Amino acid sequence: MTSRLPSNKGLVSGLIALASLLATPTAAQDASTGGVVVNGTNFALNGDHVSYRFHVDEETGDLINDHFGGLVTETVPMLTPKSQGWVEDIGRVKREFPDLGRGDFRVPAVRIQQTAGYTVSDFRYRSHDVVKGKPALPGLPATFGREDGDVSTLVVHMYDNYSSVAADLTYSVFPKLDAIVRSVNITNEGKGNITIERLASFSVDLPYGDYDMIELKGDWAREGMKVRRKVDYGTQGFGSTTGYSSHLHNPFLSLVAPDTTESRGEAWGFSLIYTGSFAVDVEKGSQGFTRAMLGLNPYHLSWNLGPGESLTSPECVATYSEKGIGGVSRLFHRLFRNHLMKSKFAVEPRPVLLNSWEGLFFDYNESRIYNLAQESAELGVKLFVLDDGWFGNEYPRVIDNAGLGDWQANKDRFPNGLGPLVDQVTALTAANSSDKLQFGLWFEPEMVNPNSTLYKTHPDWALHAGDYPRTLTRSELVLNVALPEVQDFIIASLSDILGNASVSYVKWDNNRAIHEMPRDGTAHAYMLGLYRVFETLMTRFPDVLFEGCASGGGRFDPGILQYFPQVWTSDDTDALQRIYTQFGTSLLYPPSSMGAHVSVVPNQQTGRTIPLQFRAHIALMGGSFGFELDPAELSDADRAQIPGIIKLAEEINPIIVKGDLWRLNLPEDSNWPAALYLSEDGSKGVLFYFQVRSTYNQPTPYLRLQGLDPAARYTVNGTDTYSGATLMRMGLQYRFQGEYDSKVVLIEKA
Ligand code: GLA
Repeated sequence: MTSRLPSNKGLVSGLIALASLLATPTAAQDASTGGVVVNGTNFALNGDHVSYRFHVDEETGDLINDHFGGLVTETVPMLTPKSQGWVEDIGRVKREFPDLGRGDFRVPAVRIQQTAGYTVSDFRYRSHDVVKGKPALPGLPATFGREDGDVSTLVVHMYDNYSSVAADLTYSVFPKLDAIVRSVNITNEGKGNITIERLASFSVDLPYGDYDMIELKGDWAREGMKVRRKVDYGTQGFGSTTGYSSHLHNPFLSLVAPDTTESRGEAWGFSLIYTGSFAVDVEKGSQGFTRAMLGLNPYHLSWNLGPGESLTSPECVATYSEKGIGGVSRLFHRLFRNHLMKSKFAVEPRPVLLNSWEGLFFDYNESRIYNLAQESAELGVKLFVLDDGWFGNEYPRVIDNAGLGDWQANKDRFPNGLGPLVDQVTALTAANSSDKLQFGLWFEPEMVNPNSTLYKTHPDWALHAGDYPRTLTRSELVLNVALPEVQDFIIASLSDILGNASVSYVKWDNNRAIHEMPRDGTAHAYMLGLYRVFETLMTRFPDVLFEGCASGGGRFDPGILQYFPQVWTSDDTDALQRIYTQFGTSLLYPPSSMGAHVSVVPNQQTGRTIPLQFRAHIALMGGSFGFELDPAELSDADRAQIPGIIKLAEEINPIIVKGDLWRLNLPEDSNWPAALYLSEDGSKGVLFYFQVRSTYNQPTPYLRLQGLDPAARYTVNGTDTYSGATLMRMGLQYRFQGEYDSKVVLIEKA
């Protein structure tokens, strides 16, 4: 219960600095330490190493956060400094669901335009329920439990008496993964229409103190760039208004103590499970608390709710680790691998592939494609992917300004359709194995070129705002996937191809952002439609491996991972740029989800020439390893290395897709970036170690490993054996030769 002082009626500045006790009801120990613990209206979500605690303020009915950090099993009542001033108590406490208009001047989690036009809300605690497991989120991607005890859930029901609007806050905890998940559901229980103008999925106030914030920024061909900056007084945030998660910012935030490093110190991680426009707000208020919130972007919301209607926010995951930024990453990786990705391929080794794009672009016919597939099989590749350019008849897709939307094989290129080609390709046997070559195909289902039969037939299916010009990017427009008829068209187009040819893999591309929309809310309606399409196709074709792509990593987000277990990380295949992009992307995303390919040199994006071994070792750190080149362009020496590279890929891929990642040296800090992957049971590992610039008369420093059992002994590359303690406290040393040299070292528990 908050004890309230009389409000400021005069000139009393600097007068009172009382410390009044927030009478957090009882400081009883939690009855148990795992999962959801409720004591009256005190709530705790406990994990193995985390506690998230809040309570109901008896006087105001507000939800007050007590703690989000390392595991504790009781709450110490908080002393709130009191002073008379413009900011009332409501603006001086750590709130779980800050609403608008009653004296909390920090950024709100919710803003509703009520029937009468007001934007004031007054949400107070009404009741709560503890739910076994974790309910699904209607129409949205969400984390899930697999076994009893994986996850438990608390729903807190809030209600605004004045507007008759209900807000249900659903909290789940995955105790083994120290992850707290929250989503919010708003229901209009009144008689008139209301508009949701802002809705954060997660909102938390961290205690007084200094924090740094970390995010991933970028652009096309330079995704996943880590940025760290100090959180200062006032608001600072980022987001996407592109309609998608975008290359520009990722729906990921980490807050860390100023002295937290990759492997030490307190770190909080937040991730929104969503593919559309999002907003991340961080605000340090006058009391020094740091408010963090993630949710739908208010610029793309304005969601109308009639009487009885509801809006459910996407969910947001929050994790906490005392083991630095790497600790947070590993929690997210395990959670995403085991409790977010639904595909049967989530923790399966991925086939080594060859993709036609950088090798041939649009310049091919059926026999050239078959030759490329044949050469792939001869090298030992297991999956051949035909990229852009295979479809469109009235408007052939032989160039990137035509054909999108017309998903029939181009008859000039494939006179008998795709069927015979697919049959021929899948009859090939991959060298050094008995496996038949698999066939994969590129689509960009959400887009349409004005030069297409689809657009000529259904111009209204393209997103537009009245008579405003329909602005083009890469000569294309976006289909309005909010429309059920567009969803059905996409489902039917893909089903037609996937149901009639032996296609094992689909690359689902998305090469532009959304510009003109009929209404702000269309952006979220589009996402709900898209998720319906994904869910339907995944269920219909469970044996197809789907890879997401959006001009590279423009839609690399946790929402996508629910349906597609891998995403093409970047159109920039230059191995030096890739170290930064892949290390950055791995802050949140498991290596299993990253597509990484070896391309030719000089690199087509940067012009840089890097030896094949280094390029391959960088790409091998991604879960889906492959080539994106025409083997005819390889030198004999490079070509001769490929079977060995494929053998290595197949040996280590099970550890890459299922293992834990330890970023040992970061590319921004060291000339010798290094990463260690360890199987979840710790029995096998693979170490990647790179030298970027050549050095002379200078030994490479010892590289200390992490994550091993100090008492166990490990064999390094099948020869020497050392204890985990030695490898972690002293380390290994290797000699490198010149620029862009690299090692891959296998580690096995003896
Ligand atoms: C995007 C993708 C590429 C390729 C092309 C084809 O740019 O990111 O990998 O598929 O489209 O047009």
